Amino acid sequence: MFRKLPDRAFNKISSLIKVRAYTAGEDATPFAPQSGLRGYFGYIVKGRVLFMSASDKPLGLAVRDEFFLGKPFMLNDQTVEKLLSASDETMIVYIPSKVISILTSASRVFGEMLEDIYDAIHERSKLVVQDAGSEKAVQQWISTPDPGRALGGWVDALSKKQSQAAERRAKEERRKSIVWILWSMGLALAALMTVESLARHFHSSLTFVDQIIPYFLIEEFEPGSRWNILLGIMGYAFVLSTIFHTVVKWGIRRFKWKVNFQLSQSVHILVGVLGSYLIVLHTAFSLAGANIAYYALYAVLISLFTGFVGQFISSQIPKTIRGEKLKLDALKLEQQKLQQKAEMLMGDEKMYKTSLMMISQGVPQGFWANIFLAPILWVRSLKVKGNLKQLGLGEGGAGLAAELIRKEFQLRQKVKFLEISNAVFKRWMIIHIPLGWAVYILGAIHVILVLLSI
Ligand code: HEM
Ligand code: HEM
Repeated sequence: MFRKLPDRAFNKISSLIKVRAYTAGEDATPFAPQSGLRGYFGYIVKGRVLFMSASDKPLGLAVRDEFFLGKPFMLNDQTVEKLLSASDETMIVYIPSKVISILTSASRVFGEMLEDIYDAIHERSKLVVQDAGSEKAVQQWISTPDPGRALGGWVDALSKKQSQAAERRAKEERRKSIVWILWSMGLALAALMTVESLARHFHSSLTFVDQIIPYFLIEEFEPGSRWNILLGIMGYAFVLSTIFHTVVKWGIRRFKWKVNFQLSQSVHILVGVLGSYLIVLHTAFSLAGANIAYYALYAVLISLFTGFVGQFISSQIPKTIRGEKLKLDALKLEQQKLQQKAEMLMGDEKMYKTSLMMISQGVPQGFWANIFLAPILWVRSLKVKGNLKQLGLGEGGAGLAAELIRKEFQLRQKVKFLEISNAVFKRWMIIHIPLGWAVYILGAIHVILVLLSI
């Protein structure tokens, strides 16, 4: 990475850095008091380094081109107390954290690269800890000249995991673009129906459907006209298709269908909104009355409202892509990761603590208050960014660090309210779901009555 630096910068950096070489099994702990490397960042140029706990348990492994902190840090909920060289040719360049801060400030890409490295170390650490015979394996890695084969297993597992994550990200992107296209089509349809309906309502000459399909010859815009019946049929069809989501949920649970839950949820919302809107047009804005038709209409409107609130509460519950709720310990781990990444960018614990204080001070507590927290935190993170810049971080680094701190705090709050969010969501859905069924049934009765009266 330093190869790309201009000569002057390279000379300057090489006067600040320290280089150490280690043989296999040698203690390479930079935060040992006598090392003089505390607070430095270690950058592995060659070989690899094992992270050990106080009780000599392996907690993780860093390989070529990776960084680690020159102070005790956490991996998988345990503190790394000791570093061991796991190769006869380990070479580490120690860089003052200030240089890292400057580099991070100068380029956001560098900051993001640090983040990626950190993610890789964390992921690998999970594999190290999971490895049942890992204590024996440590000896093997250190004593065999080529432990590549022993490590090969995890490196493969890790790269598989990374490619799976990339695949998941690509799938998520695809889902987003499908939803975007569907919404565009839905909104275009709604816009066309609105223009035609309003043109009819105001007796304007902008109507176009009757020119294409003579069946819809201009008549009053009122319930029961051909045009309004078309709106009713379309609206009811859309609203009825919200039921697909129920089918999808059932299929996933019962038969492990490989349907994208989030996509199904997004389509549920789209057809719910579009259908409700067309039904309102169908009534020709006659929104008050007391017969089956109006009861059906009210059920539609309340379903719509309760759906939105439910969706909002649900968005407070962190989920995986397939819509399963994340477990508490996975969330805590995620939060820890975010914290350490932020700390890494700042290289200074005090900076982190002050920034966290700025984000969290006087934040209103309680579940409902928490739901409206996002915009407040966003504004505060801008302030934190400004503050970090004043303290010496550059534009890119300060922005990234402030974002990480905001995300971390938000996640912390979500974890705190996770149980309540789950309970509130379940209780809230007790209103939305029966109302949904009321819409299907009352709508059907209204249609039957209309058909009987013809
Ligand atoms: C959930 C879906 C629907 C809702 C909420 C709904 C609602 C309404 C409302 C509020 C009115 C005005 C009633 C009045 O002025 O007294 C109405 C009228 C009407 N609707 Fe619907 N409608 C729905 C679906 C449909 C469908 C699918 C059809 C066609 C088969 C239809 C056919 C009619 C007709 C013919 C009228 C005029 C006759 C009447 O007033 O009873 N509706 N609808
Ligand atoms: C009038 C239109 C709508 C009807 C008839 C309707 C009906 C339903 C029904 C029957 C369910 C139960 C699914 C199941 O668990 O089997 C459901 C779930 C749900 N609906 Fe709707 N819905 C409508 C509109 C909306 C809208 C507009 C939103 C959001 C903006 C929404 C959000 C939700 C959510 C979050 C769930 C829970 C899904 C889950 O279990 O994770 N709905 N809806």
